[in-house]
Amino acid sequence: MSAPAPERTQVAIVGGGPAGLMLAHLLRLRGVDSVVLESRPRDRVETRQRAGILEHGTVEALREVGADARMDELGMPHDGFELRFAGRGVRVDMQELTGERVMIWAQTEVTKDLIALRLEQGEPLVFDAEVLTVSDVETDSPSVRYRHGGAEHVLHADVVVGADGSYGPSRRAIPEHLLRRFERVYPYSWLGILADVAPSSHELIYARGRTGFALASMRSPSVTRAYIQVPNGTDPQSWADEAIWDELSDRFALDDRSFRLARGPITDKSVTPMRSMVTEPMRHGRLFLAGDAAHIVPPTGAKGLNLAVADVRVLAEALAEWFATKDERLIDAYSPSVLRRVWRASHFSWTMTTMLHVDPDGDPFDEQLALSHLHHIETSESARRALAENYRGLALGAV
Ligand code: PHB
Repeated sequence: MSAPAPERTQVAIVGGGPAGLMLAHLLRLRGVDSVVLESRPRDRVETRQRAGILEHGTVEALREVGADARMDELGMPHDGFELRFAGRGVRVDMQELTGERVMIWAQTEVTKDLIALRLEQGEPLVFDAEVLTVSDVETDSPSVRYRHGGAEHVLHADVVVGADGSYGPSRRAIPEHLLRRFERVYPYSWLGILADVAPSSHELIYARGRTGFALASMRSPSVTRAYIQVPNGTDPQSWADEAIWDELSDRFALDDRSFRLARGPITDKSVTPMRSMVTEPMRHGRLFLAGDAAHIVPPTGAKGLNLAVADVRVLAEALAEWFATKDERLIDAYSPSVLRRVWRASHFSWTMTTMLHVDPDGDPFDEQLALSHLHHIETSESARRALAENYRGLALGAV
């Protein structure tokens, strides 16, 4: 990182989150140079708490780039998960229904490993690089102007990739009249906690409790991650620790009283709003969007990181082909093909969200529909299989 960043590269990547970093690694393996510009300092990127479920394809990508050693040591493969409602539980056995499992390995850890690998390789990754403008994307020499270390710099590239999240500057380089935006804001948020206590269940539990959604997850054999549905605008500090445990305990309760929630010291509390957003197209000239810069899903389906990685797997292939042969077919196909997966995941995330949350603006009809959906999953193997296929993720090209 101490060497000055080059002024020219093949691919300028705006954003050093998992999408941008993974793309840089995949491109390097295909002989394509890139520079990653990240607006935040390294410690901020490395401590951001996000979801933690990796689909098989995401695990494969981490293996391909060589960021798999800690995941294999500390990640937790899961064969299934549980849905809980009306005082009982239904297990969805992904391994049996689909032949695949998922990996619990936090996005924070994925990001740390991708950063460490990039720096170890001595490849350009600039933190605290505030991107000011992305220009000339309609020409064959686009550029990115950014501020770093008190000075302004310009990075010239053949292609710019905007992997800078939903509020990043890249998307602004696409003229407003060419963009379509689809959005759904849900009338609730998640209060998430980390706690120093062993998980109460060895698999994840997604619950539709009497007073709302709850999720029991984990970060390690000794760290619990859990969430409860709260009203939008909730201040996480307004919830006392015991009140959070009481609420979790109530929402996970089973009629046969067999479930016991283990409580422990809460080390982190935060509130995440729930929204869905899709921006189309994901390409304009020499600018390609990837990950949250183009689409946001609510965390209920655990798809955010997986979609970002799926985007850049397709994009790396397409760009490598284009640099090697100048054949434009794959780069032309990028936006329409990844958007199909994005919409599949958006629908799945919406389904999980509406089925498991109590809508404060909803009526008894909505509630009966959600319960009917859960009953169907409980009683029909094909309904469970459809859910499991979506949850563990569809293969590239299968959407
Ligand atoms: C998490 O562990 O943070 C997590 C797991 C599954 C989800 C969302 C978040 O659907």
